[in-house]
Amino acid sequence: MTRIRKAVFPVAGLGSRFLPATKAQPKEMLPIVDKPLIQYAVEEAVAAGITEMIFITGRNKRAIEDHFDKAYELEAELEAHNKQALLDLVRQVIPKNVTCIYIRQSAPLGLGHAVLCARPVVGDEPFAVLLADDFMDTSGATRPVLAQMTEAYGDEKCSLLAVQDVPRAHTRQYGIVSATPHKPRLELVSGIVEKPQPEEAPSTPAVVGRYVLSGAIFKHPENLGLGAGGEIQLTDGIAALMQVERVLAYRYDGQRYDCGSKLGYLQATAAMGLKHPETGEGFRAFLKELAADMTRENGHGGT
Ligand code: UTP
Repeated sequence: MTRIRKAVFPVAGLGSRFLPATKAQPKEMLPIVDKPLIQYAVEEAVAAGITEMIFITGRNKRAIEDHFDKAYELEAELEAHNKQALLDLVRQVIPKNVTCIYIRQSAPLGLGHAVLCARPVVGDEPFAVLLADDFMDTSGATRPVLAQMTEAYGDEKCSLLAVQDVPRAHTRQYGIVSATPHKPRLELVSGIVEKPQPEEAPSTPAVVGRYVLSGAIFKHPENLGLGAGGEIQLTDGIAALMQVERVLAYRYDGQRYDCGSKLGYLQATAAMGLKHPETGEGFRAFLKELAADMTRENGHGGT
């Protein structure tokens, strides 16, 4: 099979780095300007030609199902008040040819476990995994990150992991790969290790939240046992997959923001706020004022 038809969105994490905001709502519903993170990720999957969206959800995640469902009352109100533009916005959240499937992960046992929950729906075909809290700004790139990867999959027909180099001090936050050059943007993965300490990391290319995975990853679920941090790690499943199949790292074109962290979320909001047609101009003027105030404050502090 060459076309990737299915995407898995693991959204069952606790989002503890974002408490209390995530106490009663999913972190994936946090907006970047006016659109929730999960909608950006679904749009990225749609742009890659994917038509089956599989959400691995947990408690407190109802808002995600509601977001991709019809909103009868809201639509009736907007219609009654002739707010056509807003009505279109609400109705176009997801294209009509796209199916949404929801699977509950009974406990947040880790990303590997979340992906394993998709097995009954994915079967043995290749599929994509998108972590919505890794927000990708590809406004300067030729196409969204997942579309770049599914195109590469068309040529290579093997699992692909999106990677970027991270500062060595940050390796303990990521799965880190060892890889050798293969083709432009592509490297052959020879090793993968979950969250190594900086002094133990073999290198610094880190796996970020976009994957194209061969269905073979499900063939040996025993490889997805408890790993680092007492969670079932996807990294361990990928390490086992590498023993039987080729896995490539893909150096994507785009800017990633870690919106699971407060700083990354603020950076994404600022970057996208500057680019948004409604807010760009006003926000730029505000940032200039803020920068001038900070310069003045620093000047006073120094005298
Ligand atoms: P994170 O490491 O960001 O975990 O998971 P988290 O629990 O959401 O956030 P913190 O660390 O507590 O702040 C990466 C992705 O995997 C999903 C998360 O929803 C997130 O998209 N995930 C993680 C699951 O779906 N299930 C799990 O058991 C763990």
